[in-house]
Amino acid sequence: MALTQERRLVTPIPGPASQALMARKQAAVPTGVATTLPVFAAEASGGIVKDVDGNQLIDLGSGIAVTTVGVSAPRVVEAVAAQAAAYTHTCFMVTPYEPYVAVAEALNRLTPGDHDKRTALFNSGAEAVENAVKIARAATGRQAVVVFDHAYHGRTNLTMAMTAKSMPYKHGFGPFSPEVYRAPMSYPFRDGVKDGRVAAARAIDVIEKQVGAANLAAVVIEPIQGEGGFVVPAEGFLAAIAQWCTDNDVVFVADEVQSGFGRTGAMYACEHEGVVPDLVVTAKGVADGLPLSAVTGRAALMDAAHASGLGGTYGGNPLACAAALATIETLEADGLVARAGEIETLMLDRLHRLAADDRRVGDVRGRGAMIAVELVDDSGEPDAALAKALAASCHAAGVIVLTCGTWGNVLRFLPPLTISDDLLHEALDVLTTALKEA
Ligand SMILES: Cc1ncc(COP(=O)(O)O)c(C=O)c1O
Repeated sequence: MALTQERRLVTPIPGPASQALMARKQAAVPTGVATTLPVFAAEASGGIVKDVDGNQLIDLGSGIAVTTVGVSAPRVVEAVAAQAAAYTHTCFMVTPYEPYVAVAEALNRLTPGDHDKRTALFNSGAEAVENAVKIARAATGRQAVVVFDHAYHGRTNLTMAMTAKSMPYKHGFGPFSPEVYRAPMSYPFRDGVKDGRVAAARAIDVIEKQVGAANLAAVVIEPIQGEGGFVVPAEGFLAAIAQWCTDNDVVFVADEVQSGFGRTGAMYACEHEGVVPDLVVTAKGVADGLPLSAVTGRAALMDAAHASGLGGTYGGNPLACAAALATIETLEADGLVARAGEIETLMLDRLHRLAADDRRVGDVRGRGAMIAVELVDDSGEPDAALAKALAASCHAAGVIVLTCGTWGNVLRFLPPLTISDDLLHEALDVLTTALKEA
């Protein structure tokens, strides 16, 4: 790895070079584009991000679940450089190229289910979610879309409507796209319902009474919710919702933008529950940081959209496709999906011990390298101030952590799968100290 895999602080966080860049940012970039940490990156590799002052931070964020195979993974760097030298763009809709087709073939193979599939490529997670809705509407001739409490699907107009949380994602940005309806999510820690079938019956009742299956094109769900708080639904919830969709000719869409691509110890989080979605949305981890997203699904559904109904100038850009193929090779050749399982064991063990010693850690949850703690006050209410304070302490000590959750009281951990156990332990030591001192 290009950088020594160690945490090292040589200035306070932020250092002077980062502070100078932040002043330039404030003068050049709008306030709406905010940053989690006050430091600017200079280099990164493995589990370390080095800032412009020379500080080395342990990365438990992976650029929000993107650099799953390690930032600038060697095969990816090589493949992107070779592709850039060959051609950077021709537009797949004008003169197509092989890497796009190869990525489509790979995603048809890697997504759950062995039915006949097709894949269309796009740029961002939100764009792919929008296209999944377009495809479901074209295939069913219906308009309504059901999403869930705590959902996050993006920041475009349709995906803002699909996202649950107002501030900061939607506040002041309406009016939003119509025909989007919200059903109750299974959230065992908060709703106390441990049987997923019971939670699904509650959601299905809302869907049937407030929307009606005959009007419904798609149910879109994150198998493990991301921004909404790393909510893992009770066992049986996903399968019951998927079955109801099948029974009612409704398209079941798994938004695996954050939970997919090896992150949870399976290629897709749906697999933990044996669920085979009609359409799967992939982004983030698929191309190690190059902008690429995909909708993969049943051939008959995917082919429902007319010629030229799907696409975009940059969708499936050759550089991003080269990165995706190298990412897939790295995941498979280096056994990284299994590594996510090891990370889960290490982190859950440490965090459960932390929770046993400290009532403020109300819940520990997640799968693979998608793990979170939900922080609560004495009465079990969400404690966003504590989450914010802990994140700030970790940042000051050189550990990148992110917060999330409808109430902002969840600390989430998304390390790259290439991180060493030593760095993970060190990061968790920092968190433990921060919690003691908070
Ligand atoms: C589950 C989920 N869907 C969609 C998106 C939107 O992806 P993007 O930011 O690439 O548009 C995200 C981003 O965090 C996400 O977590």
